[in-house]
Amino acid sequence: MTNAAKSAMLRFDNKEIELPIYSPTVGPDVLDIRKLYAEGDVFTYDPGFTSTAACESAITFIDGDKGELLHRGYPIDQLAMDSHYLEVCYLLLYGELPEKQQMIDFEARVTNHTMVHEQMHYFFRGFRRDSHPMATMVGVVGAMSAFYHDSTDISDPWQREVAAIRLIAKLPTIAAMAYKYSIGQPFQYPKNDLDYASNFLQMCFAVPCETYVVNPILAKAMDRIMMLHADHEQNASTSTVRLAGSSGANPFACIAAGIACLWGPAHGGANQACLEMLREIGTVDRIPEYIAKAKDKDDPFRLMGFGHRVYKNFDPRAKVMKESADEVLELMGVHNNPTLQVAKELERIALSDEYFVSKKLYPNVDFYSGIILDAMGFPTSMFTPIFALSRTVGWIAQWKEMVTDPTQKIGRPRQLYTGELKRDYKSVDER
Ligand code: SDX
Repeated sequence: MTNAAKSAMLRFDNKEIELPIYSPTVGPDVLDIRKLYAEGDVFTYDPGFTSTAACESAITFIDGDKGELLHRGYPIDQLAMDSHYLEVCYLLLYGELPEKQQMIDFEARVTNHTMVHEQMHYFFRGFRRDSHPMATMVGVVGAMSAFYHDSTDISDPWQREVAAIRLIAKLPTIAAMAYKYSIGQPFQYPKNDLDYASNFLQMCFAVPCETYVVNPILAKAMDRIMMLHADHEQNASTSTVRLAGSSGANPFACIAAGIACLWGPAHGGANQACLEMLREIGTVDRIPEYIAKAKDKDDPFRLMGFGHRVYKNFDPRAKVMKESADEVLELMGVHNNPTLQVAKELERIALSDEYFVSKKLYPNVDFYSGIILDAMGFPTSMFTPIFALSRTVGWIAQWKEMVTDPTQKIGRPRQLYTGELKRDYKSVDER
C-alpha cells in the first residue's frame, strides 16, 4: 500500500476521525476506513460493494467511463489482436510479457499437465447425463483437491505454482469431459502437439471413429474468446475466490467456489441467457416488445448481455467480440445468421433508446460471445463452462496475489442488523 498523501476528517456524534486517503496508479483514490469501527464504533454500509475497494491489486484495471481494460497495463484490444491466451496467462500470473524461451517453457509446462488423473473419469458417471456442465465442473474441480494433495499447501510457493499450472492446464480437459459426458460420447484425451485452444476444440468435437482436423479460424476465434474472458478486476466470482482463499482453503476449492458464483445469469451465466433471449425474440420485429419489458419496472426481465457494474461505456471486450462474430460467421458461411441480425438490431435500437442511454447500458462481453460459440457448434449449456475455463487464470492470479499479501486477513464483513432484540424462549404451550 502506498503511503497516505492526504486524509479525510469524519465528524459525527462529537467524534472526529481522520481517515487516510491513498492514491492508486490510476483510478479513484481510496479512503482507508479500517480503524473506523475501533475509533468511531460505526460500520460502513455498502451491500453490493458499489463504492468499496476490497483489496489492493496490480493485475487488471478497468476504466468504466472510457471503456478501457488493462491487463498489467496492456490494453485488451491490443492483446486480443496481437497476443494469444497462454501469453496472457503468463502476463497475468507473472506481471510481464514472456521472452521467447520463457513462453516456450511455460507452454510446455501447461501442455504436460493437461491430462487429469484417470480415476477422475469415474466422477462423471455419478452425474445424470442431462446435468448442466457447470454443475459437473463445480463438482469435479472441487474434487481435484482429493487427487492433487502435493499442491494444496498454500504456504509453499512451489505448490502454489504447481496448483496454478494444473488448474490452467486441466480446466479445458474437465470442461470438454463434462460436454462429452452430457452427449454420451467417449472422452477425448488432450493432444500435446496441439495449441491450447485447438486442444480444447478437439477434446470437445473429435470422435474415435475418424480423424479430427482443427479449423484454424475456429481455433483463433476460440483463443481470442479465452483471452477476452481471462480476468476482470474484482468481479463477483473473483471476489468469491479471494474470500474463500482468505480462510486458507486450498486453490482447487477456491476455484470451484468461483465457478459456482460465475454460473449466475447476472454474471457468467449471462452468455447462455443472452443467446436464449435472442432466440426467444426470434425476429427483428419483436424487439420493441422486449425493449418495453426491459424498461418495465414491474417486469423482472432484463436485456441479457446489457449493462455492467463498472462499464458505463462500451465494454471493450464486446467490441472485439462483435468483430470476431462477423469474421467467424462469414468464414463459417453462416451469412445473415438470424440471431446475429437480431443482436445487431437490438443493440442499435437499445443504444438509441433514452432508457438505456440515461442508464449507460451498453452491450457487455456476454452479448456477442454466445453467437460465436453457437456458430462454432457449442450448445448454450457450454457457454458458461468456456467462460469458467478462460477465467481460471484470472482467478488463480488474483488468489496468488491475495495469499502472498503479508497484510491479508480472513474476510469477515459485518452487517446492519434489523432483526429482533434479545427475547426469552417460550415453550410451545405459551406461544
Ligand atoms: C459479467 O463484474 C464484472 O466484471 C462481470 C464480468 C466479468 O468479466 O467478470 O464483466 C462478466 O458478469 C458481465 C455482466 C453479465 N450480466 C448480464 O448481462 C445480465 C444483465 N445485466 C444486469 O443484470 C446488470 O446490468 C448487471 C448485473 C450486469 C449490473 O448490475 P448493477 O451494476 O447492479 O446495475 P443495476 O442492476 O443497479 O442497474 C442499474 C439500473 C437499474 O435501473 P434503476 O433501478 O436504476 O431504475 O439499470 C437497469 C436496472 O434496472 N439495468 C437494466 C439492465 N441492467 C441494468 N435494465 C434492463 N436491462 C439490463 N440488462
